[in-house]
Amino acid sequence: MKKLFGVIGDPIAHSMSPVMHNDLFNHYGIDAAYVPLHVRKSNLEDAIKGFKAIGIDGFNVTIPHKTEIMNFLDEIDPLAEAIGAVNTVVNKEGTLIGYNTDGRGFVRGLTEELSSLPDKKVMLIGAGGAARAIYFSMAEAGVQKMDICNRTTEKADLLKKACPFPVNTSIFDIEGASKCIEDYDLLIQTTSIGMSPNVDERPLEFNQLKIGCFASDIIYNPLETQFLKEAKSLGANIQNGIEMFVYQGALAFELWTGIFPDTKRMKKNVLNQLGGSTC
Ligand code: ATR
Repeated sequence: MKKLFGVIGDPIAHSMSPVMHNDLFNHYGIDAAYVPLHVRKSNLEDAIKGFKAIGIDGFNVTIPHKTEIMNFLDEIDPLAEAIGAVNTVVNKEGTLIGYNTDGRGFVRGLTEELSSLPDKKVMLIGAGGAARAIYFSMAEAGVQKMDICNRTTEKADLLKKACPFPVNTSIFDIEGASKCIEDYDLLIQTTSIGMSPNVDERPLEFNQLKIGCFASDIIYNPLETQFLKEAKSLGANIQNGIEMFVYQGALAFELWTGIFPDTKRMKKNVLNQLGGSTC
């Protein structure tokens, strides 16, 4: 029987996941369909009951349901529990299990570009939901020194206290981080600053970066944010948010099928959908 997968969110029409996953199912000869499913907040519980009733095989979860969905699942993976958000659900013989592949996807995408990740001195910019998934997953991957800068330092402090894995972290405000940014091997930009249409904005100022510095931004619209442009002009190697998007999808696909898919193919597909070229 044809397998059924989907992505739930509100709004959902813009999602690039259906094209990406349907291409993979087709490529690997798996008889399955992946559909966008518009679910409003007030209908979330009923939708999950319906999914169980029809035996959906798995689904992704996007804004605004990533936290709320945890109330309606049977089991939650410990990392997703700690992050407090689920983006992937697997139906294992009637039991709905929630995972978070956002942070682990980010780390996987990074390790394709960078060797010896645990030894890097990292500055995480931002302390919201995306930062939380990345911070915990980087710590899970063994990163030892990872500082956080955020406009609201209290939020960064909460993140540090909540991390279930050992990691050495100092907290900076934006001004403080700007002064010492050249000490870091890896900068990770997780805020929405610089996202279209506010493409001239950047989260912090810097005039110098460490030689060999790597700068990553989780934004993919635009493909090259002002933050990445400036880091590149100072000699840094850069990565945009397509990697995180592709690798969270690849890890979800692996959870559903046991196959870790061709991420180059996925990236090409996503870039086609965005109508651009990679940086
Ligand atoms: P997400 O779930 O996408 O990470 P979020 O939880 O709202 O979104 O977090 C947004 C992050 O961007 C936070 O770190 C936020 O800083 P505060 O914690 O101080 O609010 C940061 N951010 C958003 N807009 C900002 C701005 N104009 N200036 C500085 N930081 C900003």
